Amino acid sequence: MNTSTKHGLAAGDVGRPERPDWTIDQGWEHYTAEDHATWKTLFERQTKLLPGRACDEFVEGMRDLPIGPDQIPDFRRLNEVLMQRNGWQIVAVPGLVPDEVFFEHLANRRFPSGNFIRQPHELDYLEEPDVFHDVFGHVPMLMNPAIADFIQAYGQGGLRAQQLGYLPQLARVYWYTVEFGLLQQGDALRLYGAGIASSFTESQFCLESASPNRIRFELERVMRTHYRIDDFQESYFVIRDLDELLEFTQIDFEPLYQRAAQGTEHQPGDVLADDRVFARGDGSYHLAKRIN
Ligand SMILES: [Fe+2]
Repeated sequence: MNTSTKHGLAAGDVGRPERPDWTIDQGWEHYTAEDHATWKTLFERQTKLLPGRACDEFVEGMRDLPIGPDQIPDFRRLNEVLMQRNGWQIVAVPGLVPDEVFFEHLANRRFPSGNFIRQPHELDYLEEPDVFHDVFGHVPMLMNPAIADFIQAYGQGGLRAQQLGYLPQLARVYWYTVEFGLLQQGDALRLYGAGIASSFTESQFCLESASPNRIRFELERVMRTHYRIDDFQESYFVIRDLDELLEFTQIDFEPLYQRAAQGTEHQPGDVLADDRVFARGDGSYHLAKRIN
């Protein structure tokens, strides 16, 4: 797996599709009864976990979408609601797509979603994002205007970061927000990142385990910080609220990239002297794995 970005890998074994933008038809009619049953299992166990853990915006987005337990959502139905809400749409892809294709879609308010679903014996194992991760995890948040604009700006910023040579720095921002972000809601921390919202185990780990750090999000700090692609995160970064993401779209990232790329880089579990720490983790989870 590419160490800088998760979406940077070519589309697995499936290969390059015919269309230059890598989109395919969802082929909703081709899902089997077993595919829909896998969705139902995932949907039902995840829906039970999210009250009190997912942020209010996630819950509201889910409520307003035609997503339910009984079948894998039809992108055509999702797009009717999304397009009307804020001009976003879901496009089906066969798996991970090249960075520039991914960014070009996002910059045009198209969210690429894997059309396949994981195998029933691999419910917690994902080599590439499938329709459950992409639709259950990402689409409710896309209904929120702040996230909708932030992800579009990320697509535009990605095309620019690629030209400037700072893709790893930008990808870390995406990773620690859109995929694994936490936010403050009232006195509590809640999750909004799709990678954790769609994960049975990590949605609990990120908020309740004593192991990970929970640290106030700072843009340049995050640009310097490596992340785990193979396991739970060692640190989660907490934003004030979703509007903070919109503030980032008003900032010129180039000077931050330059400083981040020239300065010290941080390991996923590092806690720095000037971090604002919500919870300092004991690192027990990853420590136990390193010993065993
Ligand atoms: Fe994702």
